[in-house]
Amino acid sequence: MRERLESLKQEALNELEQIESSGQVQELRVKYLGKKGLLTEILRGMGKLSAEERPIVGQVANEVREAIESKLEEKGQAAERAEVEAKLAKESIDVTLPGRTVHAGNRHPLNLVIEQIEDIFLGMGFNIAEGPEVETDYYNFETLNLPKDHPARDMQDSFYITEDILLRTHTSPMQVRTMEKMQGQVPVKIICPGRVYRRDDDDATHSHVFTQVEGLMVGENVRMSDLKGILLSFARQMFSEDAKIRLRPSFFPFTEPSAEVDVSCMFCGGNGCRICKHTGWIEILGSGMVHPRVLEMAGYDPQKHTGFAFGMGVERIAMLKYGVDDVRHFYTNDLRFLKQFNRV
Ligand code: PHE
Repeated sequence: MRERLESLKQEALNELEQIESSGQVQELRVKYLGKKGLLTEILRGMGKLSAEERPIVGQVANEVREAIESKLEEKGQAAERAEVEAKLAKESIDVTLPGRTVHAGNRHPLNLVIEQIEDIFLGMGFNIAEGPEVETDYYNFETLNLPKDHPARDMQDSFYITEDILLRTHTSPMQVRTMEKMQGQVPVKIICPGRVYRRDDDDATHSHVFTQVEGLMVGENVRMSDLKGILLSFARQMFSEDAKIRLRPSFFPFTEPSAEVDVSCMFCGGNGCRICKHTGWIEILGSGMVHPRVLEMAGYDPQKHTGFAFGMGVERIAMLKYGVDDVRHFYTNDLRFLKQFNRV
């Protein structure tokens, strides 16, 4: 019996040595030590032993049980450890790997400036209108009091598509388009941002496509001082609290009187520098009182209603605001340029 016990121990330890999983540990525990296990089976024969033999065999049996148990324990722990490690290895995340960059776009500087202009005029009660870039000769010139032989209608200056259709050369056609829509009602208070086209040779300050914001206000007793006040408020909000404006006499066929508007130089505060060519002033827009003939053509009675209009160049304002020295930067889509406006 002692021999059977010894050989059982040997057999058990050999088999346990091969264990790899905690499932197997459980299996072998049952196989050797369970109620119907091999050890129990041998011990059942104890009753047949003599009184002297019994304690000796009992001791051997205990040793065998302990040996098997401690081996099971050891193997069980090892298997568990290995299983945890395998699980960790499988689920691990390498936090040192570089992340994938998300390339988010940002607003184009011209759109940034348009949005600022819109915000300022919305704050003064203006609405925003938009009109077609492909325009008729009628709205682009005729209703703006530009007679057929006016030099601005020259083929050199405009992109004609047919004899009567062209790419708009300014946003002013929106003046009459808006007034027609309003059907004689007042007040009319709109601004209209949009692209315009002229046959120019591109250089640092000229582009054949550029952006304007038109402004129009028509009502009873709308005066030149209203124009002046609105534009001063605009300049202060757009450039700086202490910005000044100055109106210089000018000529446009669709306004009378007409004025070019300068803003005090935001680089030198009006003292004179390279940017303002030592004048202290920078021109930002054309403006004037809507010509009576334009009001008439749009269905308004110039005896009852008056109005002012202005048109500003968005590129010019963006160049002044952000210190851009070449208008072509706005159109060549160089990311090194565009990305600089990420946080303004
Ligand atoms: N349309 C004119 C231009 O493009 C600007 C302007 C608009 C002038 C409105 C007066 C009134 O130069």
